[in-house]
Amino acid sequence: MKILIIDDSKLVIEYAKSILLENNINCDIVTCNNGEDGLRILENEEIDVIILDIVMPNISGIEVLKRIRLNKKYDDVQILMFTSLQDKEFLKISFEYGATDFVRKPIEVIEFISRVKAAIRVRNYQLSLREALSILEDRNSQLVELNKQLKEAQDYMVQKEKLAAIGQLAAGVAHEINNPLGYVSSNTETLSKYIVKYKSIIKEYRRLIEIIEKNNLNFDEIMEIIKNIKKLENKLHINFISEDGEMLINDSFEGIERITKIVHSLKNFARDEKNDEYDNYDLTDIIEETLLLIKNEYKYSIDIEKDFQITSQIFCNRIQISQVIMNIIINAVQAIKSQNRNDRGLIRIKVYQQEGYVICEIKDNGPGIEKQNINKIFNPFFTTKNISQGTGLGLNIAYDIIVNKHGGDIFVESELGKYTIFTIVLPIKKLENN
Ligand SMILES: Nc1ncnc2c1ncn2[C@@H]1O[C@H](COP(=O)(O)OP(=O)(O)O)[C@@H](O)[C@H]1O
Ligand SMILES: [Mg+2]
Repeated sequence: MKILIIDDSKLVIEYAKSILLENNINCDIVTCNNGEDGLRILENEEIDVIILDIVMPNISGIEVLKRIRLNKKYDDVQILMFTSLQDKEFLKISFEYGATDFVRKPIEVIEFISRVKAAIRVRNYQLSLREALSILEDRNSQLVELNKQLKEAQDYMVQKEKLAAIGQLAAGVAHEINNPLGYVSSNTETLSKYIVKYKSIIKEYRRLIEIIEKNNLNFDEIMEIIKNIKKLENKLHINFISEDGEMLINDSFEGIERITKIVHSLKNFARDEKNDEYDNYDLTDIIEETLLLIKNEYKYSIDIEKDFQITSQIFCNRIQISQVIMNIIINAVQAIKSQNRNDRGLIRIKVYQQEGYVICEIKDNGPGIEKQNINKIFNPFFTTKNISQGTGLGLNIAYDIIVNKHGGDIFVESELGKYTIFTIVLPIKKLENN
């Protein structure tokens, strides 16, 4: 702590200094006899308290005070005006210019000491406040930085969650495509054999036509050819291959359509959703498309029961809604599969409309959710799965998509060992701020 005394009277300075020393004021004391020197000292040293005489030659104490207070740097320096009774008017002005207190001349020891001590106390408070503030500022900027990093990590994880979903699905989707691809290719092989047979029959017909055209109609010869044709038709099962060929072609068409649909859904799902506009969609269409993508995940061990009532279209981002539905159904599938049960699991999807909302309930008869976890499942990174199966972000993202992005609601109800129901509520109408 450093005190600066500015007074044109050396006598006063010496007296003031001796009082401070005698009273064990634990401070460094710097002194000078005019305002200019005072301002210079202030510039070069850390001064905490100034005792400033008002009436001085050249620049007055009031002027010095003004100049000090002009500089923000000295805002909280304590300034005690050193004043005699005649200076009353000046005292008033000093307070207007930012003096913090005054000490009277001639010096009254008790008053002088207690005012200086008070100024030192205030100054000490200020210093510790300043330190606390700077610690707080440091902490705050650390927090801001951490927050930024967390946000980046979260964005990365959101991206990763979708990629992970696509990755997990890829094998299943390939399988789903392989199946129709298998029979389309075997149908094509059979059809190509049928064509060889058709060709040999056609050859006989051509021969017949040739003979008739040549006009040397030999009845026996013609009958012979006809007999041969009939025989060949029987031998080649032409009636059968005609009927079967038609069936194979229809079958192949259906297979190709299935492949096209799956590829289309996958392409839709994988698309960069930022570019995807909101539009009006049928929730049940979105669910059907999603089911198509994840069919391979459930078809061997779980039945899906659909109870779709007719509902209005909802204004939404289709890819985002599909991501939510997919995560909820995959969660249900994983939960059921984790039970290693002997019977088939069941997932019921119900869609209905209520007032201005379309509601979708997805219920599974899996293991349910433990009471201590039910409040945590929407938290980011909460998962009960191992690292290859879950990121713990699925439901957190689902919440963000349904509640924040679509103005809807999502909640869960579960009974341990019996069932889990996820309910999604989506407004039919466009959100005001969307
Ligand atoms: N249908 C369900 N049955 C049982 N538990 C579930 C079900 N759906 C979600 N959970 C629980 O919620 C947790 C969080 O799910 P989610 O956010 O999708 O992350 P992840 O699937 O990556 O674990 C899961 O780990 C699981 O414990
Ligand atoms: Mg999940």
